[in-house]
Amino acid sequence: LHSSSSAPLPPSLPWLPILGSLLSLPRGPPHLALTRLAHAHGPVLGLWLGSHRAVVVSRAQEVHEVLIGQGRVFGGRPPMVTTDILTRGGQDIAFANYGPAWRLHRKIVHASLYKGGFGMEEIEAIVSAEAKELCAGLFGYCNGQSLDLTTELTCAVTNIICALTFSSGYSRTDPEFVSMLRWNEGIVRTVARDAPVDIFPWLRACLEEGSPPQDVLGCLLAAQHAARGDLRARHLTDTHLLMTVGDIFGAGVETTSTVLRWIIAYLVTYPKIQAAIQAQLDVMLEGAFPCLADQVRLPLLQATIWEVLRSRPVSPIFIPHVALKNTTLGGFHIARGTRVLVNLYAVHHDPTVWDDPEQFQPGRFLSSDGLQVTPPRPHFLPFGAGPRGCLGEALAKAEIFLLMASLLQTFTLSLPPQCPAPNLEGVHGVVLRPPPFKVCLKHRSTCA
Ligand code: HEM
Repeated sequence: LHSSSSAPLPPSLPWLPILGSLLSLPRGPPHLALTRLAHAHGPVLGLWLGSHRAVVVSRAQEVHEVLIGQGRVFGGRPPMVTTDILTRGGQDIAFANYGPAWRLHRKIVHASLYKGGFGMEEIEAIVSAEAKELCAGLFGYCNGQSLDLTTELTCAVTNIICALTFSSGYSRTDPEFVSMLRWNEGIVRTVARDAPVDIFPWLRACLEEGSPPQDVLGCLLAAQHAARGDLRARHLTDTHLLMTVGDIFGAGVETTSTVLRWIIAYLVTYPKIQAAIQAQLDVMLEGAFPCLADQVRLPLLQATIWEVLRSRPVSPIFIPHVALKNTTLGGFHIARGTRVLVNLYAVHHDPTVWDDPEQFQPGRFLSSDGLQVTPPRPHFLPFGAGPRGCLGEALAKAEIFLLMASLLQTFTLSLPPQCPAPNLEGVHGVVLRPPPFKVCLKHRSTCA
């Protein structure tokens, strides 16, 4: 069904040897440039990235086919110079090609994070403790001064990942934690510079200090130990373990803290939405600290989170997938080895499935009475889906909900006087970020 080489090739941008289609790409942020091209040429567009054949996929129907319908066929990752250096040739999860090592590491990390799918209790406890810590740390700023919340939010998210990975918590000023933050900020440079042999003594120390095997590192080391002498051992080398742990920090900190900053950027720009969320928090929780079970009782907060994830997906263009065999997509022939770029931004702003996609309207995710959220799959894919879908989706959702609910229950966030609203276009880098901005905090018991 999917292997007809008689199917036509997708429409393609012109290309030149060596340069590929570079000269045909419009200027500007790639997600916007590729979205414009999709409007002109259709949802499956061929181009050449240097000497590599690629297609950009920009519509929900075809994206679903890539991620789920033919998730395994399109489940490869390409070798790329920079990520190969960073991950020692794809010995991690996110940049590893489809195969037994990738599958095994996903399974171990998933089982460790979600306790085999049986519970979010541990995550909830860790995130709630961090949410309290975050709010406690911010009380000192309720004196009219303005601050950029990036460091505080990154600290909170890093600490959560540390707790899940190493079973260790840190105070904000702990020198080890500060160096962990630096490591995270410079993850690219640090992972490339430090030889595994320099880092393993520290990994070993964690095991020797008796950290329980339930945390991610403990589970990876336990799997390594159990695989001694059998075939799986070659997928569980020290380098594999180090790269997988690096992935969890690399994929889990910047993404989640950026989403939190986007939500805050929108809430200070739309103070009425913030006030309405706070009113719902007050009525539903009556001062009790938020927990995950409150998600259904706080539909406006949920809808606002989703609308931010829709409007400004942190990963507007996914890490490239690769077709592992010849197939068809949207009626077009796709040759084995083709790199597939999912343009999520185009899917989330497709005017044929979203009313006024450029407008920020949390209400689009609410039932007409406003009492329930209505997730609009299949057009909403902030975490991807299928075999390559985000491993941290449930964790990230729990973090975003609990941290935002606690913050908004405790504080009102506003723009500093005479400060313009942050530019909501976003700055394109590893992720799509809001530009730096400051807010003022007001403790809510003094707000009324
Ligand atoms: C992959 C989004 C948080 C771990 C991905 C992908 C997306 C994504 C779009 C790529 C899907 C694809 O290539 O088809 C997000 C967003 C997050 C978030 C929006 C926060 C709001 C996290 C967290 C973790 C994590 C907290 C930590 C466990 C991963 C990993 C992959 C991944 C390991 C690679 C999966 C693979 O290639 O098999 N994420 N993510 N992510 N994410 Fe997340």
